[in-house]
Amino acid sequence: MFQNVEYYPGDPILGLIEKYNEDPNPKKVNLGVGVYYDNEGHLPILDCVKKVEKELAEKNLPHNYLPIDGLTGYRQACQNLLFGPNHEAVQSGRIATTASLGGSGALRIGAEFIHHWFPDAKVFVSNPTWANHIGIFESAGCEVNKYPYYDSNTNGIKIAELKNFLSNLEAGNIVLLHPCCHNPTGIDPTVQQWDDILAIIKQQGLIPFMDFAYQGLGENLDQDAYAIRKAVDLGLSFFVSNSFSKNMSLYGERVGALSVICPTTEEAKLVQSQLKLIIRRFYSSPPGHGNYIVDKTLNDPILFKQWEKEVYEIRDRIRAMRIHLHDVLQEKLPDRDFTYLSAQRGMFSFTGLSSEQVARLQCEYSIYIVENGRMCVAGLNSRNIDYVAQAMAEVLK
Ligand code: LMR
Repeated sequence: MFQNVEYYPGDPILGLIEKYNEDPNPKKVNLGVGVYYDNEGHLPILDCVKKVEKELAEKNLPHNYLPIDGLTGYRQACQNLLFGPNHEAVQSGRIATTASLGGSGALRIGAEFIHHWFPDAKVFVSNPTWANHIGIFESAGCEVNKYPYYDSNTNGIKIAELKNFLSNLEAGNIVLLHPCCHNPTGIDPTVQQWDDILAIIKQQGLIPFMDFAYQGLGENLDQDAYAIRKAVDLGLSFFVSNSFSKNMSLYGERVGALSVICPTTEEAKLVQSQLKLIIRRFYSSPPGHGNYIVDKTLNDPILFKQWEKEVYEIRDRIRAMRIHLHDVLQEKLPDRDFTYLSAQRGMFSFTGLSSEQVARLQCEYSIYIVENGRMCVAGLNSRNIDYVAQAMAEVLK
């Protein structure tokens, strides 16, 4: 009966976890999936989250259904965090926000909405991008194309090509952007480059879809939201997906949100109603635990401050690992320039390793990074970093 079912060989990122788990080498290092581990190699539970979880456990809340679009306090907290609590767009209620199953869920809800209401819109993603972006939009029925982004010669952005490309796109198409900590390259536009990109998007009548999975891990919570807030100030209507996987270490709870910034409050109500319809048919309503944690943490000023401090500790440890890796490699291979390693931001480094070199790291050293050369710097720690640097130097020789 199922003979003709096609075999799915596995995801290029999540599939690495399985390979890593099966590897008996005690020196193995998992730098594939975008997950932050502390310096002891443990997945942290943030102190602010522990406090809220204790409080929730003591309350012994019944497990009722949540509203289709999530808790009101959760949705408000997301809007405050993304746009700033005093922003006119937040105050006037012209943003439709729904809870989602992680950032991926938000992308998929947004993709469904776009395909249904704007069936002719094509989606343009950066070259390269997180591989699942393409899969998510295509499986919702959208046509996906790429815009120029990464320049392997300079380890920077092909900014002139990118601007030229956007200037030739037709109105009504969707441009998927990474507001901070670009996945996989770790290379973000400067403020001036964002201003230029968004001015072209406005002039061309394009619709941004901002995938915001790393707020706080680039510069800080506000600066990382620069492109989003600038787009609102320019009067654009657009989509934002966000996630608390990385910045609240809530990976398995699948806590994200989709926000749609609309021209008017009336339109936001229409959009909100349609997002609820999509969700009702997908999975009916979201799980509660993550919604409660984020609601309590972000809406309590003391817990918010504690969370902010913990996010910045994560950011700073990742930065320290980047610099250490850069320094060791620079010393071992002085003829090569590793400046890009310390200049990139967020969880990932685009190492420039070829797929053969990536395979050697895996086979000879049990070091797992994504085939395109993306390394999750957040998996490095003081015990494994020299081993990784040594192995990288060997395969780069
Ligand atoms: C990643 O890029 O590694 C993360 O966003 C996890 C995932 O789902 O791929």
